[in-house]
Amino acid sequence: MKADVLSNGIASSNKIENKQKQKAHGQNGAHATMSPVAKRAKFENGDIQKSSKGSESLVSDTLEKRHRMIGRATEIHYPECPLYIEYGRGAFLYDANDKPFLDLMNNVAHVGHCHPKVTQASHNQIQQLNTNSRFLHDKIIKVAEKLKSTLPSKLSVCFFVNSGSEANDLAVQLARAYTKHYDVAVIDDAYHGHTLALMEISPYKFKRAGGLGQREFIHVLARPDSYRGDHQGNNDDPKIGEAYFKDAKRVLDQAVDNNRKIALCITESMMSCGGQIIYPAGYLKSLYDYTRSLGGICIADEVQVGIGRSGSKGFWGFQHQDVIPDVVTIGKPFGNGHPVSVVVTTEEIAQAWEDRKVPYFNTFGGNPVSMAIALSVLEVVEEEKLQENAEEVGNHCLQRLNVLKDKHQIIGDVRGFGLFIGIELSEDRVTKVPATEKANTVVYSLRNRGVLISRDGPDRNVLKIKPPMVINKKDIDFFIEQLDQVLTEL
Ligand SMILES: Cc1ncc(COP(=O)(O)O)c(C=O)c1O
Repeated sequence: MKADVLSNGIASSNKIENKQKQKAHGQNGAHATMSPVAKRAKFENGDIQKSSKGSESLVSDTLEKRHRMIGRATEIHYPECPLYIEYGRGAFLYDANDKPFLDLMNNVAHVGHCHPKVTQASHNQIQQLNTNSRFLHDKIIKVAEKLKSTLPSKLSVCFFVNSGSEANDLAVQLARAYTKHYDVAVIDDAYHGHTLALMEISPYKFKRAGGLGQREFIHVLARPDSYRGDHQGNNDDPKIGEAYFKDAKRVLDQAVDNNRKIALCITESMMSCGGQIIYPAGYLKSLYDYTRSLGGICIADEVQVGIGRSGSKGFWGFQHQDVIPDVVTIGKPFGNGHPVSVVVTTEEIAQAWEDRKVPYFNTFGGNPVSMAIALSVLEVVEEEKLQENAEEVGNHCLQRLNVLKDKHQIIGDVRGFGLFIGIELSEDRVTKVPATEKANTVVYSLRNRGVLISRDGPDRNVLKIKPPMVINKKDIDFFIEQLDQVLTEL
């Protein structure tokens, strides 16, 4: 066995299977596999309770209670065999038997599960004070200053909220207050959140059979998918971006002809739920310019992709599209799992909101504990050079995936930047029929081999890689080995 070390301290190469076998043979393999940090947390501090039951009954008991008491529409990972996760460290989650799972799906645990600096910041602050932002406190100022140092200078005013949905909801309200228009341009299959206003503007939700349907003030732009969309080819080819922009312009012009007034265009800087789409060159810039020419403003939803994930391309996803938004919304990674989000906008837009003379208040938004956590996350990204890590490990992942693509015909496309990567599975390289069922099989097979990955996109055939940013190359090698075997067995 190679002595390569994964980011949880476990030796790689068949590690999980081997450890399970050891455990089955009474060699206490799982505990031997734990990193010193995890062991210390578990046994010395006593802050993690090991279940006294076997994990199978733990899963079935919990599931039965959950079905009875928690809204059953609430999604669950791996419905056929859900996981009961007890704790997380770095890029790994662990079940009740201490089985490690490499977490490729959790862009929320941005600086790694239970990062000590983040947990300490939370602990220190909650012992001292937690109250609302109507009182003066320095932490909210420190976070605003830190954010400002990463953003274009015109994005200078923050509103702190608790979730990506709240951030986007407020962004839509800001846009309507500033422009005095109402209508929304959005890209097909995009998801921007779960409030009523956002369910109305998210095709990912409103298009579904039981969804709200398309309201008259929503204008849906074609998904600029250069792999399977109407205009296919190389993303760097400006003709592709231009063709998709022309399609978008046609939709917006039609709206204007119908006397609609565009308040905003909301886009993720790279589409996540829409299938890990990277926009073709020039597309977003043209869309921004045209939206503004119609009196609308441009909102960049960085809830999934912000805070260094795209590597050297930019701290924020919009930077590699050469655009400067009027409003940016930041969520998931900002609190490393703690619910904290923010809307950052321009002085003029914030002023328009103030001019309405309806004061803004948010009970939890900007509280000192959330701010201590967000500050620590931004500091860790810098101190541990996680943006640089995203570039290096992301490139390594892309390179290894492209080699796999040569070997496995089912891999139709590999795309992404930094630690935001999509693997699109197609039955055939010519017809590109989406390999939806096979993608599902791959997700479950990887789960059983200790790798957590999700799939998305309109055909649910795109494997999404967006792990904690502390993931290392050995972790990626482990994933690639498992994926290679899973695809071989398909
Ligand atoms: C792009 C995007 N925007 C907004 C949201 C909503 O964020 P939240 O679930 O924190 O409300 C999500 C959630 O998945 C998202 O993916």
